Amino acid sequence: MSVKSLQGRDLLGLADLSASELKDLLQFAADLKRGTQKPTCQKVLGLLFYKASTRTRVSFSTAIYQLGGQVIDLNPKVTQVGRGEPISDTARVLDRYLDILAVRTFKQEDLETFAQYAKIPVINALTDLEHPCQILADLLTVQECFGELAGQTIAFLGDGNNVAHSLLLGCVLAGVNIRIASPAGYECDRAIVEKGKEIAIDGAEIILTEDPIAAVEGANALYTDVWASMGQEESARERIPLFQPYQINSHLLKHADPAAIILHCLPAHRGEEITDEAIEGKQSRVWDQAENRMHAQKALMASLLGVS
Ligand code: CP
Ligand code: NVA
Repeated sequence: MSVKSLQGRDLLGLADLSASELKDLLQFAADLKRGTQKPTCQKVLGLLFYKASTRTRVSFSTAIYQLGGQVIDLNPKVTQVGRGEPISDTARVLDRYLDILAVRTFKQEDLETFAQYAKIPVINALTDLEHPCQILADLLTVQECFGELAGQTIAFLGDGNNVAHSLLLGCVLAGVNIRIASPAGYECDRAIVEKGKEIAIDGAEIILTEDPIAAVEGANALYTDVWASMGQEESARERIPLFQPYQINSHLLKHADPAAIILHCLPAHRGEEITDEAIEGKQSRVWDQAENRMHAQKALMASLLGVS
């Protein structure tokens, strides 16, 4: 069943969901994946992406098609917002045409401006601060692998950036312990960590460390992301030596639970944050994780649109 309390709302960050809404949304996504529910609608989704995307673009598009709706690609390079039309004007126009809007941009404040001026639901399809849709799919994947989320431990290795931020919030909201190992200077945003402490359920722990082995010890899932995100390409080279100890490889994997799974939001840079052997190995679940983007976002859109 779509999550009724989400109808008409935005998803700008994972903490916009309550613990019970997150649980219900993941259950709904699992039902959609199994095909036991088939909600339909004739709604129009707009995609306004200022950064490159494969998974998010295609999974959102396929999800709305499968719901019976349509998608419009509002590429900023060929729409006026890319030439300087204010976000506040663009948002008020788009909401007269569209039913729902997914935005991928740099500043969280720009996403918030879209949400402030558009009355339709606005979804964060990745900002520099958060990537909540990714984490819906990640938690769905962990739930599929282990049955239960509460009490699991996920270790994230690498940059305390958008993916790590949403992962931290999503984990504690689901009762999952989260350990994040990052090099000094690349830790998670303090405000996100504080928010995580506020919203944690079932005693979910947050551990931030510079020690990758301590983070991985006995963990049920190891997760990483690129060392230099979109917009940070200039610092990519200087990050490599600092991030090297955080690479997911067979050495690090030995410290995890023997049944641990490996996750990566993708795209991956093999030989940097993860070895080819690890991403292609038996413990990797990255392709299921990528597929789950579609099921999770279908559940999200059906809920925000009030479709059942
Ligand atoms: N994981 C993810 O968001 O991938 P894309 O950048 O390809 O959308
Ligand atoms: N942290 C990465 C995630 C890509 C899906 C980035 O922002 O580029």
